[in-house]
Amino acid sequence: MNRIVTLTLNPAIDKSTSVDKLVPEHKMRCVAPKLEPGGGGINVSRGLKRLGLESLALFPAGGPAGLLLQELLEREHIAQHAIAAANWTRENFIVVDSATNQQYRFGMPGTLLLPDEQAQVLRVLQELTPAPEFLVISGSMPPGVAPDFLVEVVRRAHAAGTKVIADTSGPALERIVEEGVYLIKPNVGELARMAGVDELDSAAVGKAAKALIAKGKCEIIVVSLGPQGACVVTQDMEDHVPAPAVKKRSTVGAGDSMVAGMLYALSTGKSVRQMVRLGVACGTAATMNSGTELFKPSDAEKLYQWLLRTMSEHVLD
Ligand SMILES: Nc1ncnc2c1ncn2[C@@H]1O[C@H](COP(=O)(O)OP(=O)(O)OP(=O)(O)O)[C@@H](O)[C@H]1O
Ligand SMILES: [Mg+2]
Repeated sequence: MNRIVTLTLNPAIDKSTSVDKLVPEHKMRCVAPKLEPGGGGINVSRGLKRLGLESLALFPAGGPAGLLLQELLEREHIAQHAIAAANWTRENFIVVDSATNQQYRFGMPGTLLLPDEQAQVLRVLQELTPAPEFLVISGSMPPGVAPDFLVEVVRRAHAAGTKVIADTSGPALERIVEEGVYLIKPNVGELARMAGVDELDSAAVGKAAKALIAKGKCEIIVVSLGPQGACVVTQDMEDHVPAPAVKKRSTVGAGDSMVAGMLYALSTGKSVRQMVRLGVACGTAATMNSGTELFKPSDAEKLYQWLLRTMSEHVLD
């Protein structure tokens, strides 16, 4: 039985490689590419696996990249349910310029998810018995998916007693927040957009999150602040957790790793303060690895212990 289900409506294959030097017009010789499963929810499932927690990854898959995606997840022993999609799963491309060590990320647009495929997603979710404890909706939305589709997903999850965790952006996130979910994890830009402003400085972040909480629609908001860590807000508390100083290699997958860490904490009965610390620990641990690599559990554990030690006693609940 999977107590956690991740939903990735816009999955991808992430193909990464490197070249000696990125130059226009010339034929560039790349090293053999590394292929990895990608997309928000899929990465959350992969992060959970590293922490020793099973989950079910639900996603549409089409064409050769769709088959490859399923094969790669099988190799990682991740439970999956792929909805057969008529359109081909996208492939993202990541190139490291070895001369500068800079990473270039080329994200392809998702492909149209047809109405009957969306209906199939709802059916599969509905038929999960028992209903999962947590449903994670993560990543971008592919063409064809209206924000209201996610509202339907959320409503049905709530009716089944499932807690929803959302890490998406744009109109989809706005509609989900109107509906109300258990936890959202916007970054500052995503929170600013929801607050209807261009930018938010660090003092305004807590306020904006509190204002959303006050509407009574989300129980927990974790605003991720990149190298500044994260800020967690609930009805009765606000807490800022700094990111430990580490040697940053690549921030790819930091947000998804953070969500995986928070879910692990939630499903093992940790407090909200501990949850956000484990989230920051996993997110920051992900930045210690190069390329698209997520976090090493040993790095996350070390950073988590460090963050717990820096917690003052009165907040240890
Ligand atoms: N440069 C960094 N140094 C240290 N930790 C970082 C850095 N960037 C990200 N993190 C860690 O990862 C967490 C999530 O990062 P971030 O706020 O960038 O999320 P995001 O914008 O959703 O990322 P993504 O692009 O993966 O969706 C942060 O809260 C922090 O713990
Ligand atoms: Mg993110």
